[in-house]
Amino acid sequence: MKYYVGIDLGTSAVKLILMEETGQIAKTVSKKYPLSSPQPSWSEQAPEDWWKGVVSGLKELLEGLDPRAVEGIGVGGQMHGLVLLDENDEVLRPAILWNDTRTGEETDFLNDVVGKITLQERTGNIAFAGFTAPKVLWVRKNEPDVFRRVRKACLPKDYINYRLTDVFATDVSDASGTLYFDVEHRCWSAEMLETLGVKEEWLPKVYESGEVIGHTTLLGMDAKVVAGAGDNAAAAIGTGTVSEGQCNISLGTSGTVFLPTDSYVKTANPALHSFCHANGKYHLMGCILSAASCNKWLNETVFESDYSIASGDPEGEVYFLPYLSGERCPHNDGDVRGAFVGLTHTTSREDLQLAVFEGVSFAIKDCIALCPQGVSTATVCGGGTKSRPWMQVLSNVLGVELKVIANEGPAYGGALLAAGMSCEPQVEYTVEPDLQTAALYIRKYEKYQKLYPMLKEFF
Ligand code: XUL
Repeated sequence: MKYYVGIDLGTSAVKLILMEETGQIAKTVSKKYPLSSPQPSWSEQAPEDWWKGVVSGLKELLEGLDPRAVEGIGVGGQMHGLVLLDENDEVLRPAILWNDTRTGEETDFLNDVVGKITLQERTGNIAFAGFTAPKVLWVRKNEPDVFRRVRKACLPKDYINYRLTDVFATDVSDASGTLYFDVEHRCWSAEMLETLGVKEEWLPKVYESGEVIGHTTLLGMDAKVVAGAGDNAAAAIGTGTVSEGQCNISLGTSGTVFLPTDSYVKTANPALHSFCHANGKYHLMGCILSAASCNKWLNETVFESDYSIASGDPEGEVYFLPYLSGERCPHNDGDVRGAFVGLTHTTSREDLQLAVFEGVSFAIKDCIALCPQGVSTATVCGGGTKSRPWMQVLSNVLGVELKVIANEGPAYGGALLAAGMSCEPQVEYTVEPDLQTAALYIRKYEKYQKLYPMLKEFF
């Protein structure tokens, strides 16, 4: 039997799966690592922690197996993070992550001075605080000593692939989120590199996601390593979201709405990202910065116990704004913060729990509202799917049928890319909207939409 390893380099943990050549998942392992926030709105991780997690995860995954039975490895990773290396390949500073919003000034410079139209022409996208280009400008301005020593700049999963293979490579889907990549033509944008002061020789060579970049002999394996993908494109491969008309919603630390397209789309509303897909085509995507992480915060930090039930009354008037890390789509506002609105003496835990499920679902609806074709059915993957009551709330809020996918989306997608295989969505269960509650949520969504403009002023 041949095996393939899929790795999802996430924000809270790395998840690894061992996939048989038939596509069956034989084993799953997860290793947590810390996230540090040395200042409000900063979000950083040590690349060495990722690597340690990958190595110890692989050791556990391969226990009892001849490591040479592993044919291939594919990594999907948290997107946009900036990893900087010096001339000895030493990491120069902690990686600045996708949900770090320190770069308000740099984002404004890119959107207002370079200009949104120019950015969209060069890259397919406008600037968001979480994208890589504003991070480059931030380091250049605030840490000139670090910037002077930069010899390589890459994305999180590319660092792992480099440690595995000694080959400095990236893939088109992940590179799309840098804002120095020409999405339409699937290559680095020379004009953006010039604007940012980045030398092309610092950047990895660009591959399609399923292309082999090298081999690894780590832990006795003799496995090929493919270029891999950004975690959302990898999740789309893992949930079978590869054709126009499909939609995958991912509820992890972030929340995303992912729509494959056959060709490059210049979005009318640039709050929606236009990126390369891992299957040689393209996709549109909306991203909220806090999704299942809001539920984690409520249960771990506020309730200090798991309370993921939704017995609150949808007629209730408690609203939750899920902007715990600021917000990406549609507001592009790193300064806004989360809020509960409408609390009374009788507000219960159940009400707060339901408000969180609803608030994150409304934010997902905000992303869907940007999509030109709308969405009539979707697959859902990620940690949020563990709460069945939440899936019902999401279906009621969106008014669409949801197919909940059992596998670890991005890790499974990584393994499929390594095997050169595709899959049909492996649906665990389907949720239909309850029409009466869905009608109620149309009204509640209208009220929810009024809250951000008011909060924006406040923050
Ligand atoms: C997508 C994004 C997030 C991260 C999470 O644009 O920023 O989904 O990829 O890992």
